[in-house]
Amino acid sequence: MKICVISGSPKGEESITLQYVRFIEQAFPEHTFSVVHAGRDIRKMEQDREEWDVALNKVRESDGMFFATPVYFMLVPGQLKRFIELAAERDAMQAFAGKYTAVLTTSIHFFDHTAHVYLHGISEDFGMHYVGFYSAHMQDLKSEDCQERLILFFSDFIDAIREKRSIQREFPPLPVAMPSYVPSGRKTGVDTCGKKVVILHDAEPGSVQETMVREMAGIYAGPVMVADIRESMMKGGCLGCCRCAFDNICVYKDGFRDFWEKYVVPADILIMAGTIRDRYLSATWKQWNDRSFFNGHVPALEGKQIGYLVEGPLAHLPNLREVLAMRVMMGKANLVGIVTNESGDSGEIDTAIRTLASRSVRFAEQGYISPATFQAVGGRKLFRDEIWGGMRAIFKADDRYFRTHGLYDFPTKNYLERIGNRLFSFFLDIPGIRKNVEKNLVTHMIRPFRETIEKSRVLAKRRAKQG
Ligand SMILES: Cc1cc2nc3c(=O)[nH]c(=O)nc-3n(C[C@H](O)[C@H](O)[C@H](O)COP(=O)(O)O)c2cc1C
Repeated sequence: MKICVISGSPKGEESITLQYVRFIEQAFPEHTFSVVHAGRDIRKMEQDREEWDVALNKVRESDGMFFATPVYFMLVPGQLKRFIELAAERDAMQAFAGKYTAVLTTSIHFFDHTAHVYLHGISEDFGMHYVGFYSAHMQDLKSEDCQERLILFFSDFIDAIREKRSIQREFPPLPVAMPSYVPSGRKTGVDTCGKKVVILHDAEPGSVQETMVREMAGIYAGPVMVADIRESMMKGGCLGCCRCAFDNICVYKDGFRDFWEKYVVPADILIMAGTIRDRYLSATWKQWNDRSFFNGHVPALEGKQIGYLVEGPLAHLPNLREVLAMRVMMGKANLVGIVTNESGDSGEIDTAIRTLASRSVRFAEQGYISPATFQAVGGRKLFRDEIWGGMRAIFKADDRYFRTHGLYDFPTKNYLERIGNRLFSFFLDIPGIRKNVEKNLVTHMIRPFRETIEKSRVLAKRRAKQG
């Protein structure tokens, strides 16, 4: 069978993910593999129609399509995102329709699931039959367990093609038309109280996004910096070279770093506006996010109040909502809210924008950051373990940050607690003590809070006095 591999890595033949494909290729000599280097050659495909046609012919001639891509910022690299956009823009989806497809990613398993959901949805939008995914840790290939599983996974993919397996669609198509937004024009300004407000966007002239950005900027009664992310003059997408890992310095000499320093770093309140294209925002936003990788794995948005303005059917894309929210939470920032134009009710959108503005200032003044939920708690532990466990040799800047900020907070380091736990466990082996503890277990769990609750009234009085 002819398998067309869409490779998402900007590293081309030197991609880690592609080594997994090469392994599969050797294991299945009866099949032929052709690779479309979407990640490496996207610029050429955009500019040279022949390059695009060559790529598309590989897709057309194949019996099965295999996405092989690294996970970048909880999704695929901006370059692959652009390839997907181009296919839609150039009406090339027919070349993909009806084919069986599967996804192979490599990553450190940080939000690999959101990348898979994205490609699953895209595959179905393109009319393909999605067979499944294989999510490898970037170093898994050396293990025999991974090798065996990869072979089983790929065999199943081939079987699906051969038997013309019937596969149910999982992600319904997105609504095509989105309502417009006509602001009321009545404005009572929200005092910024000296907080620095920045709005970043990629709005096209005349778009709903542009209107939302204008309204958002206008609602603050104070200076607001508004910038189009294209002004950062990126020369290209992240190359995945990881040379920034040593000192947080990117190899690109373009305007991205200055833009980041000018707009993102000083912002107390950061509003990001985008328009949904396929199942994410634009490839430009994706590229912009990827380029912020020069910050490494530190919480680069720490302490900021973040809001999003989204034009498009976000309610149909819980995966995108998760990506947007978790970018904020992983950055130790506070997600104030996400406003969309989905309702089509301009009055309601006006109110949502006003609420976003007033809450952003109030929270900025109070310094409120919401506690992390499962994904971000898990994500932080994963970064800690991965950086400590091996990445720190190269990710030296991360290592310095994690050390100086006490982020290597492994529970095993708390010796007092360890001794206490051991002793407690030892006592619980004594039947009499265990019986007593069992009887009072529920009360025992809330006992440590009693004093705190009693103090709460005192604190409330103190707050009331302070006005
Ligand atoms: C810009 C950038 C963003 C990344 N984002 C993620 C991520 O969100 N989750 C993850 O687990 N790994 C992430 N990684 C790690 C890569 O997925 C991983 O190193 C992958 O194996 C690289 O594959 P490649 O050599 O085929 O490009 C990121 C790497 C880069 C350079």
